[in-house]
Amino acid sequence: MRTKLNDIKNAAIGEIAEAKTSVELNDIRVKYLGKSGEISLIMRDMAKLPKEERPAFGKLVNELREVVEATLGEKTAQIAEKEKFARLKAEEIDITLPSDVRPLGTLHPLTKVRRELIDIFLGMGFSVDEGPEIESDLFNFQLLNIPKDHPSRDMQDTFYVNENIVLRTQTSAMQARIMTTQKPPIRVVIPGKVYRSDDDASHSPIFNQFEGLAIDRHITMGDLQGCLQTFAQKIFSKDTKVRLRPSYFPFTEPSVEVDVTCAMCHGKGCRVCKGTGWVEILGAGIVNPAVLEMCGIDSNEYSGFAFGFGIDRIAMIKYGIPNIKLLYENDVRFLAQFN
Ligand code: PHE
Repeated sequence: MRTKLNDIKNAAIGEIAEAKTSVELNDIRVKYLGKSGEISLIMRDMAKLPKEERPAFGKLVNELREVVEATLGEKTAQIAEKEKFARLKAEEIDITLPSDVRPLGTLHPLTKVRRELIDIFLGMGFSVDEGPEIESDLFNFQLLNIPKDHPSRDMQDTFYVNENIVLRTQTSAMQARIMTTQKPPIRVVIPGKVYRSDDDASHSPIFNQFEGLAIDRHITMGDLQGCLQTFAQKIFSKDTKVRLRPSYFPFTEPSVEVDVTCAMCHGKGCRVCKGTGWVEILGAGIVNPAVLEMCGIDSNEYSGFAFGFGIDRIAMIKYGIPNIKLLYENDVRFLAQFN
């Protein structure tokens, strides 16, 4: 029995000394100290011994167990240290290597144009406002002299939320909001999203408008023309000319349609302007006195001008973008060109 104990001890210590990994060590632990390991099995053999020899034998087995446990413990600590070191070595990062360059985003062309427009009008003494995209029929239509069932509603294909709520079809809705809450003099521009159920190469169901409103004493068509002339020259180029043609909007009287000389050919005539040298960019006019009165402004004392255009259209003309959809698809290959 004693020789057997000695054999086990030598074998265990030898194997522990040879072990190279924590996995191997664990196998050795199971082999000797596990539930059916050799040392546990030998404990069972004790039953075969005469009663008086059992305590002494038990003591020897316990000593053996302790020695094996201690040797295992030491080696485990050693190997753990080695393995930790190897892992750190493998995970080492060379901080002197150049890092991966993260691509920087670029401003969306609509954002660029909107900011440029705001700058131009701030320079002319306008302030900037915003309003709700879900708008009441009252502001979007009625206070702008477009009563319910009026044929001019057909000019805009409206998304109705319910009978009295619409997705605003025009930033002109903000004209009514401002005139009913502010006193002249008023000089304000309103950029914002608008919605119409319209969909082709030059129309998107969502697009961006830019509204202007000026109300004061003695405002005339000349003020409107001068303001638009300055704006057109700043956003396109110094040689840009502006042309006003008679038109119709329910909330302006008289109303005009405004053309600028083509930014592509500078008025010579090309594909973009269909050979005419002019491109239409906005609607405008003198604020209809009926609208002033509905909004609580005395039309005998005050007059005003208003204009509205598509920011998208300005961007398309400025950058030669052929299809409005490109502005809403967010293809980074397209957007990156405006860096
Ligand atoms: N709201 C008009 C449109 O969307 C444009 C406009 C604005 C016309 C202001 C006149 C005055 O077509």
